[in-house]
Amino acid sequence: MKATLITGASSGIGEVFARRLAARGENVVLVARSEEKLNALCNELGRAHANVTCQTIALDLSEADAPRRLFEETERRGLEVDTLVNNAGFGSMGDFLSLDVGRELNMIDLNVKSLVELTYLYLAPMRKRRRGNIINVASTAAFQPVPYMATYAASKAFVLSFTEALWDENRAYNIRVLALCPGATETNFFNAAGVKKPPFRVAETAEDVVDTALRGLEGGKGHIISGWLNYAQTQAERLVPRSLVTRIAGKGMRSGLKIKTD
Ligand SMILES: NC(=O)c1ccc[n+]([C@@H]2O[C@H](COP(=O)([O-])OP(=O)(O)OC[C@H]3O[C@@H](n4cnc5c(N)ncnc54)[C@H](OP(=O)(O)O)[C@@H]3O)[C@@H](O)[C@H]2O)c1
Repeated sequence: MKATLITGASSGIGEVFARRLAARGENVVLVARSEEKLNALCNELGRAHANVTCQTIALDLSEADAPRRLFEETERRGLEVDTLVNNAGFGSMGDFLSLDVGRELNMIDLNVKSLVELTYLYLAPMRKRRRGNIINVASTAAFQPVPYMATYAASKAFVLSFTEALWDENRAYNIRVLALCPGATETNFFNAAGVKKPPFRVAETAEDVVDTALRGLEGGKGHIISGWLNYAQTQAERLVPRSLVTRIAGKGMRSGLKIKTD
């Protein structure tokens, strides 16, 4: 059975991907750690779309063998994953030395390592079929260093660069690979990052972001930035020295997070 696999589908952008793609008649496989939330969403989608099959796989994708276990499970269930949405991810905010280094490393395991391995595993059968779609969720933070979100921004810079390279490698095989770059979006992200209030303007909804992604995929783009203001900002950043962009970002973050440097 053909299916679309969405990681991080228990909330925010991933949940909206699940809703949008199921509404388009795609069978969906929802992955995240929160089993109850996944099951509740699946039941709802199954009731709303009689022609659609929804399945869940609850696991922590930051664990070393999780991508392999996920792939083996979808193989065991006879699923032909022709769209993969690598969306699961989280961030942290604060002076690098004030953060828990274990959590920073765990972020790299989830945002980078698991995304690379899942792309590798699911791309191989797509190549054989000469058909497939991969959406990797990056961020506007991928375009510049972000002080006080240093690891997160670097992880998303990796995702953007990696995905654009694969976009080109796979064009000849009829496989679309897209890096989705949202700016600040209304989801559980900031809560998960441990901050009460986002240090910058949150302008977009997860629905806006997913609509942008689906448009970008349709257009065969290598990356797409969600929201015209976010687009304008990333373009403007290219015109000024990188050190200046970083210092301005640092100043904004210090003020937003009320960080004092002595
Ligand atoms: N919101 C923003 O401002 C923003 C901006 C740019 C990019 N992004 C990116 O968008 C993506 C989705 O984030 P969101 O904004 O929708 O935040 P969110 O509401 O916190 O959703 C994150 C999703 O990832 C899942 N997840 C977290 N850790 C996981 C793990 N170890 N294993 C499996 N799943 C895990 C969460 O589910 P469980 O907790 O149930 O596991 C949840 O479903 C992320 O990659 C994020 O970096 C967000």
